[in-house]
Amino acid sequence: MTTVDPPGTVRLAVLPPLALYVHIPWCVRKCPYCAFNSHEVLGTSHERTRELPEQEYVAALIADLEGSLPSVWGRRITSVFIGGGTPSLFSPESIDALLSAVRARIVLEPDAEITMEANPGTVEAGRFRGYREAGVNRISLGIQSFDDAELKALGRIHGADEARRAIEIAQAAFDDVNLDLMYGLPGQTLATARADIEEGARFGTAHLSAYQLTIEPNTVFHSRPPELPGHDLAADMQQMVEETLAASGFQHYETSAFARPGRRCRHNLNSWQFGDYLGIGAGAHGKVSFPDRVTRHERIKAPRDYLAVGAEYRERVVAPAELPFEFMLNALRLVEGFALELFAARTGQVLARIERQLASAEAKGLLQRDWQRICPTRHGRLFLNELLGEFLADQKNVRGSQSTIAGT
Ligand SMILES: C[S@@+](CC[C@H](N)C(=O)[O-])C[C@H]1O[C@@H](n2cnc3c(N)ncnc32)[C@H](O)[C@@H]1O
Ligand code: SF4
Repeated sequence: MTTVDPPGTVRLAVLPPLALYVHIPWCVRKCPYCAFNSHEVLGTSHERTRELPEQEYVAALIADLEGSLPSVWGRRITSVFIGGGTPSLFSPESIDALLSAVRARIVLEPDAEITMEANPGTVEAGRFRGYREAGVNRISLGIQSFDDAELKALGRIHGADEARRAIEIAQAAFDDVNLDLMYGLPGQTLATARADIEEGARFGTAHLSAYQLTIEPNTVFHSRPPELPGHDLAADMQQMVEETLAASGFQHYETSAFARPGRRCRHNLNSWQFGDYLGIGAGAHGKVSFPDRVTRHERIKAPRDYLAVGAEYRERVVAPAELPFEFMLNALRLVEGFALELFAARTGQVLARIERQLASAEAKGLLQRDWQRICPTRHGRLFLNELLGEFLADQKNVRGSQSTIAGT
């Protein structure tokens, strides 16, 4: 006799790969467009920090990790991403202390990708060698633009020459370098956007991310919006970015991510494939699966509170009805989409559950599929919100259970 699982049952035969995200929440200056949990080191906000509490924060991160270990017992970490904020404000010694503590507490795969974000205004050759010696093997540089006027309009702490020097210093110490660029900037033309992308590509890095500037709530740009390129020009810029990078040998593999063959960011790819990740640090988010449920957790956001209270976090079980949408929110960002079996592997549900939504998105030309894969069409990538909206339908009034858990 065949047994049928009741609706809402989650059964994961194998747990997904597990990554580690570490958040460092400070920057020299807050950029007016940035909605990330980042606070000025010497700013005027209530989060003002006269001196960076580096050692205290590393100790808090380690305690945070220790508090999370019971939820991932016996599992290995496949990649680490130290993001921010500006992690390169921390000394190599602090990064070394952090990574040594991670290795002492949980098994890191021997070939784990370990990325650290850096701001060109904080780059120095000796420090970069120190990060490499600490175990970092990939650097992600926030370049944004090679145009001094555009960098100024973005409130960046560095100019174009400093950005160029930072890339050379990073490339001297690391084989694996990513450049973050933005387009659709205040005052930008198609020609200046092209010049930025072409110059970024010429450095020959393994990876390049090109984000269209978005105006986020709770930012200076939100309260005082700059004049941005119109919709049509922004769409032309997007097409130019894709064509220019393809001609330079980059594969476009996610909405904003481009890589040389074999050089995709393994950490981000795991998130887009709805893998698991522990998130430690102020405001960090995470996702951890168990054989019968998928959970999400979130740390206290304000650095001062995080340091004072410790690794207390909110955890919720994702309602099974939300899982298909959450899966699609990530997997449909991937240009090549996902293998059919990945849906069941990550959500613990059969793909047939969302057949109606798949068929509807396919009929609208937003999605295509064969017997192996499902992927967004070019139209679906351009109108991703419309495509994702197809999978929202089922979830009205469904929320996971929430609880507050005090870690160590
Ligand atoms: C968390 S930031 C980290 C990099 C580093 N803090 C820096 O800015 O140099 C990651 C990237 O997100 C992008 N980004 C941040 N805010 C954005 C926005 N409002 N619109 C588009 N891209 C944004 C920038 O390219 C930035 O480099
Ligand atoms: S340096 Fe990066 S994280 Fe910091 S405010 Fe600017 S964009 Fe945000």
